[in-house]
Amino acid sequence: MRVFSGIQPTGRAHIGNLLGAIHQFTDLQNRADCLFCVVNLHALTLPQDPAALRADTLQMAALYLACGIDPRRSTVFVQSHVAAHAELAWLLGCEATYGELGRMTQFKDKAAGRDSVSLGLFAYPVLMAADILLYAATHVPVGDDQRQHLELTRDLAVRFNARHGEAFVVPEALIGQAGARVMSLQNPAEKMSKSAADPASRIELLDGPDTVRAKIRRAVTDSGREVRYDRTAKPAVANLLEIFSLLSGEAIPALEARYGDSGYGRFKQDLGEAVVAALDPIQRRHEELIRAPDHLEAVLADGARRAAALADPMLRTVNERLGLPG
Ligand code: AMP
Ligand code: TRP
Repeated sequence: MRVFSGIQPTGRAHIGNLLGAIHQFTDLQNRADCLFCVVNLHALTLPQDPAALRADTLQMAALYLACGIDPRRSTVFVQSHVAAHAELAWLLGCEATYGELGRMTQFKDKAAGRDSVSLGLFAYPVLMAADILLYAATHVPVGDDQRQHLELTRDLAVRFNARHGEAFVVPEALIGQAGARVMSLQNPAEKMSKSAADPASRIELLDGPDTVRAKIRRAVTDSGREVRYDRTAKPAVANLLEIFSLLSGEAIPALEARYGDSGYGRFKQDLGEAVVAALDPIQRRHEELIRAPDHLEAVLADGARRAAALADPMLRTVNERLGLPG
């Protein structure tokens, strides 16, 4: 089992990233050969400030380690450090069609309302497919929003193999059950996201305790005062219950039994403390890693070396299949 996944460095990572993606990563590294990448080339699909992008890239790598990814077990690296990603993306882009890329819902969402849309934004899923196929990954842990991109990756792998001869492993998405879709604290119909304008809609992994408490206090709830898990009738409370359960390790029925009739006030207060307690060790480790970046930089240099050693033979095979001289 070979696992690959990536997170973009831009904006601030939030508890949706932690529960939908990173928790799966830390679990998988105990039983699979794992690569975890900070996908900074993907960030360039929208305008970026260079200094901020550099800082955010290191910050995201530090968060991987702070959240429990162990560089002795997993390969942790930065996408732009391994040139093969961009090279394979070009080659795969010649297999992908305009029609299928135009059907990607994330592209449609991100392109909506812009007067100019870059080729990079359109080709984003092709670069993602290259990330995965380069390493012959068998499994790709992601949140629910990446399901369509994984399907495209599989289609491209199958198509390439059929046209040019076996080169790629066809990967499977690993979409966790609980946590796969953490919703906004301000609108339970939308997923929690790095790019939402209102920071109160998400809890960032580096939010301080008072910010966390205030955001939970301000989180929208549903009508009535009963704390009950019902995704349809009580979507906001159901989302808060899921977050509480995943971060504290307590089952949802136990939480319903404790808070069911006591109103939203006490529930939110205890949830705030549970989130603060879950984030505290992550923030301490993150702070240490950023304060003395030598260790982190060494981890990333070693990760890039290991990743390139896996990517190079795959790129050679693909070049050979396509008739490009070696
Ligand atoms: P992104 O924030 O788009 O870079 O996503 C990084 C990873 O976190 C991907 O695997 C996403 O599917 C996952 N993710 C992002 N937002 C959420 C969310 N609200 N709930 C669960 N998983 C998420
Ligand atoms: N597109 C993913 C996201 O927005 C990030 C990503 C890039 C990724 N390359 C990947 C995820 C490869 C899994 C595997 O979340």
